[in-house]
Amino acid sequence: MIHWLQRGQVPDVPHTAFEVDGKLVYEHCFTRAGFESVYSILYHRDPPHWITSGEGLGRHPGLAAAHRVDPLRRVHIETGKLGQTGTAFLGRRMVAENSDVAVWVARPSESEPTLVANADADELVFVHRGRGRVETPLGTVGFQPHDYVYVPQAMPHRWVLDEPGHLLIIESRSSLRIPKQYRAPEGQLSMYAPFSHRDFRPPEWPPSKAPGQRMLVLSGGSLTACELAHDPFDLVGWSGQLWPFVFPISSFRPRTGQIHLPPTIHTTFAGNGYVVCSFVPRVVDFHERAIPCPYPHSSPDCDEILFYVEGNFTSRKGVDAGSITLHPRGVPHGPHPGTYEASIGSQKTDELAVMLDTFKPLLISENALEIEDAEYNLSWVR
Ligand SMILES: [Fe+2]
Repeated sequence: MIHWLQRGQVPDVPHTAFEVDGKLVYEHCFTRAGFESVYSILYHRDPPHWITSGEGLGRHPGLAAAHRVDPLRRVHIETGKLGQTGTAFLGRRMVAENSDVAVWVARPSESEPTLVANADADELVFVHRGRGRVETPLGTVGFQPHDYVYVPQAMPHRWVLDEPGHLLIIESRSSLRIPKQYRAPEGQLSMYAPFSHRDFRPPEWPPSKAPGQRMLVLSGGSLTACELAHDPFDLVGWSGQLWPFVFPISSFRPRTGQIHLPPTIHTTFAGNGYVVCSFVPRVVDFHERAIPCPYPHSSPDCDEILFYVEGNFTSRKGVDAGSITLHPRGVPHGPHPGTYEASIGSQKTDELAVMLDTFKPLLISENALEIEDAEYNLSWVR
């Protein structure tokens, strides 16, 4: 997705006979948008498509009915109230969704015992807490707090934890991409981009050994347990532009204006119908009468989710690290009473937060309503 890479052994010409240790290896073309977009070609010692059995396991246990909240209100979801239990894949709970994107939260305490694959979506996971690694056939990416981890749709993988985690999972039902304004027409990240190619950490080659040949696949919200005839991590090499990566949020280099710039200046990733923005510590607006706090606004084309990570959230009171707020279209939103005025004359902010703006309305799941802070909507009353 970022740029082209090659690891291990690959033939000079794709789709030609290639032998390693005297034995033909098998191509596995991992493509996006049919065959029209980025792809990687994986070279396996044994055919990767020999699935010997499949067992339907029903709906993912973290799915729940989702609704437009009534009455229209600002929602505060206290994700720290979710139990610290299960694995990153099966223990996650969906909190909000529309047809473009879904937001899940996981507080896993265990590593995944088998391989998993999400055939429904690309995954962009923000690691709020936890350390460990994600094993994939292309190699392993290590993660720590405040990393974004990207796992391509349908790629077999496994979350291995060194300590319990707290994860914000953004399921992108289209290909996650770098905003096009950050690319030169030739594809390189331009010198105006708020990050560089060097900030994206690719998987470390070679891959670890897979934990077995069983894989849970999520497709259409339902799980299937597949048995594979061969080790899916048996690669001799790969090349291409579709690979899992880690991007530390601290690598996002923020912009500040003389007067307040719109929040989209913090855009980090995008997909069809949404953008993901990173709010990182920064100096704030420097006009002598600047109001650095975000201005109240009505953006009737967007619903806005904020995930609070760390620091003093200049515009919000009563939210904790790990809180999610959702401010829906239809009613104006803005800072809490007193915070707008108090920001005048401030020079910097230490806030760390992730924002998801969606262009279609978000439905709130019953999982989220169970851990909603009922006082939040009226906390603007002075
Ligand atoms: Fe906003």
